[in-house]
Amino acid sequence: MKPELLAARRTAAVQAFPEEIPDLPLEELRARLGRERVYKLSFNENPYGPSPAAVRAVQEAAASMHRYPDSYGRALCQELADFYRLSPEQILLANGADEIINLVALAFLDPGDEVIIPSPTFGSYAAAAHLAGAVPVTVPLNDYRIDLEKVAAAVTEKTKLIFICNPNNPTGTAFPASELLPFMRRLPERVLVTVDEAYNEYTDDPAGYTAIPFLGAEPRLLVMRTFSKIYGLAAARVGYLLAHAGLVARVHRVRPPFNAGVLGQAAALAAFRDRTYVETMRRYNREQRQWLTEQLSACGWKVVPSQSNFLLVDTGEDGRGVFDYLVERGIIVRPGHGFNLPTCLRITVGRPEENRALVEALMAKNSRRS
Ligand SMILES: Cc1ncc(COP(=O)(O)O)c(C=O)c1O
Repeated sequence: MKPELLAARRTAAVQAFPEEIPDLPLEELRARLGRERVYKLSFNENPYGPSPAAVRAVQEAAASMHRYPDSYGRALCQELADFYRLSPEQILLANGADEIINLVALAFLDPGDEVIIPSPTFGSYAAAAHLAGAVPVTVPLNDYRIDLEKVAAAVTEKTKLIFICNPNNPTGTAFPASELLPFMRRLPERVLVTVDEAYNEYTDDPAGYTAIPFLGAEPRLLVMRTFSKIYGLAAARVGYLLAHAGLVARVHRVRPPFNAGVLGQAAALAAFRDRTYVETMRRYNREQRQWLTEQLSACGWKVVPSQSNFLLVDTGEDGRGVFDYLVERGIIVRPGHGFNLPTCLRITVGRPEENRALVEALMAKNSRRS
């Protein structure tokens, strides 16, 4: 391994996964807070759980756990390929979208390359760039939205890769995918664009917000998806990459052979086929997102219009204080300081009773103050 790469892996910028309250598993939260009822609204998970078909598929696949999985996940890739009208060679499975981010960085970045990352956004892009010894270059959002003009203007002769999160985490904002092609045409030949569509299925118009139809026309485009969000399979750890077959082949070279497990593949296949369940989840989320947006606005907070399953809200005060207040009541949200938005909170849209508990706690807080 190149010495500069080894050094990059030891930089302070590459951190272990945090162990703060919003990052802890539910069981650990219950133990630490000493309460049975904890509402976790900090991870943007599907609060309703997976399709029953996915649970059954895992139960059936469990008997084959002594066998290694299909390294190429052929059944799932074929299903995805048919759905998106691609060839299976254009799809690669991974241990969650998080692993795809790392694999893309390992496959395409050399030490010293620049990686453009709108900010704030999902933290794994910068971490992956550091891992590969590359240099993250951040481009501020404009009114909580990714500004493709500014992103294009940040390109230098060192730029190799651009990460775009659409809808963006933590803001929930999205731009129509039609804006992507003119943007990409302005970029130099060598620059790759990775669009993270982890939350696409939660948007009001998944077809209008996805870059997947452009994969044929754009050989420098990579799109990431995950089964961790609307499919309710965060614990199964399955994500997938869609791109030109040539790019996918390069990512296969840095991929561990059995990165997507048997149970995850089985769950993902069954969950993907259950389109009725996905539609139901989208509807539940949209209804609750709308309700929560209205209620939180009525609390006097600025709520950023969301196309996702979470809301970014500006509390107008130190978000940490509101976060601590909610933790005491067993409601876990994500404080904005980690995103450099110290007055904000990112709140996952939960089940109706979770959202009601959140709103009631905030109203009680407001009435104590007045
Ligand atoms: C934008 C975005 N991309 C990727 C991921 C990681 O997803 P996975 O669970 O598939 O690793 C997340 C998880 O929260 C996310 O918010």
